[in-house]
Amino acid sequence: MKILNERKSTREFIEKEISDQMLSNLLWAAFGINRPESGMRTAPSVLNLQEIEIYVATTSGLFLYAPKYHKLELIHNIDIREFTGNPGTDFPKTAPINLIFVADLSKYVMFGDDETLKKIMVFSDVGYISQNVYLFCASENLATVVLGAIDTKTLKEKMKLREEQLILLTQPVGHFK
Ligand SMILES: Cc1cc2nc3c(=O)[nH]c(=O)nc-3n(C[C@H](O)[C@H](O)[C@H](O)COP(=O)(O)O)c2cc1C
Repeated sequence: MKILNERKSTREFIEKEISDQMLSNLLWAAFGINRPESGMRTAPSVLNLQEIEIYVATTSGLFLYAPKYHKLELIHNIDIREFTGNPGTDFPKTAPINLIFVADLSKYVMFGDDETLKKIMVFSDVGYISQNVYLFCASENLATVVLGAIDTKTLKEKMKLREEQLILLTQPVGHFK
């Protein structure tokens, strides 16, 4: 009840890094494996497809969260935080961590050619992950806001994503100002 009472969106951050342990916990809360025997996750997903991947943009570069090993894989060492929001929006780059939720719709073979249904499903799934992040942040006194207004074309280029990968939402995380 206390955490739900404190969940909120915040768009102001101080310039203070998030510790590795805190980032580790954040990613596990977001969409880590909570049942190792079956590989099931902290957020539900349609047909247990687990189709959403979490990229992490930091001052050190861009990483991909590998839940199976609970590790970050380096994609490149360029700081792309300034591209995770809308052009002209400054606050995302002031947060030390920017989560970027990405899905590969080509994995949705069971929905055939119904692109609308695929998008409804994938945007439902990402909502649970984002809410996990919100609740974790509330529990650890961290500031966060989920962002849908994104220049996805530019961000996709900066992330060097494949054509079939779809950027869903981003979520800066940092310390309260
Ligand atoms: C799907 C989605 C997209 C959002 N996109 C943005 C955004 O682009 N920029 C922003 O500042 N806030 C964005 N928000 C945050 C909302 O503005 C915020 O949740 C709302 O004002 C309610 O405030 P609260 O989260 O503090 O309850 C988004 C929220 C959701 C759920």
